[in-house]
Amino acid sequence: MTTVYLNGAYVPKADAKVSVDDRGFVFGDGIYEVVRVIEGRIFAWADHAARMARGLEAVRIPFGAAEVASLESVCMKLVAENGLTSGEATIYLQVTRGAAPRTHYFPPAGTPPTVYAAASKFTASADMRDKGVKAVTFPDFRWARCDLKTVNLMGAVLARQAAHEAGAYEALMLRDGMLMEGAATNAFVVINGAVRTYPLSNYILPGITRTYVLEAARAVGVRVVEEPVTAAELHGAPEVFIAGTTTDTAPVVMIDGRPVGDGKPGPVTKRVQAEFLKRLYGR
Ligand SMILES: Cc1ncc(COP(=O)(O)O)c(C=O)c1O
Repeated sequence: MTTVYLNGAYVPKADAKVSVDDRGFVFGDGIYEVVRVIEGRIFAWADHAARMARGLEAVRIPFGAAEVASLESVCMKLVAENGLTSGEATIYLQVTRGAAPRTHYFPPAGTPPTVYAAASKFTASADMRDKGVKAVTFPDFRWARCDLKTVNLMGAVLARQAAHEAGAYEALMLRDGMLMEGAATNAFVVINGAVRTYPLSNYILPGITRTYVLEAARAVGVRVVEEPVTAAELHGAPEVFIAGTTTDTAPVVMIDGRPVGDGKPGPVTKRVQAEFLKRLYGR
């Protein structure tokens, strides 16, 4: 039986009930996070907490940095209660603007945010890491605040469904002829031996994995260029890879049915990946 956290209580998942008036349900009016747990230790908690607090502040949900910080102990309790202190797990955290009669504008001051967290067992896919994944390109018609991790994920849902229907793992989002990121990952393209990725802006999520991947690249002497990649550069690149909390790093070996390079994970990708995995596993 899974124990989850809802509004201050630890309850069996089947007993966790949220109002149909919840603004997360009605409007997608909330912010979420996903963290990775390895042997009972949360990877990069401080980074995830900072991003969540920034997102909540940006959309004016009254749940401050200190309250976000307090969710660390909630995560640790969920890990313990669900027998996840060894091996790997992920934790999903969500804070919505709470339940109130439906009006687009904010509910009355004092409406308590809905706070939910759940931990699940996770098994990293060795196949994905080692053999790579297929991707498709997809038009990025998401909104202009992709830097906020809001629960409103319609663009990502439709993009990932298109990938799924094409037998691929990820959808690479193209906006105005440029590669932005994956539907649920950041994307990296090797050009002239350097790792290129879209610069931080309102059009991509500031991925926590992205930060550590770029740090890993620099650590092994690979040049990092935070500049846009055109669709033509993407299709002609010798190596492409993606990174995210539940994907960690995965080479992209096929895009829109055509092989990337020789269709196998490339040397720059493998070097950066190996260095990133050292950081992830604290070795
Ligand atoms: C759109 C998008 N980009 C990038 C990422 C990767 O972010 P992180 O490394 O923090 O998981 C995610 C994760 O869900 C995402 O949804």
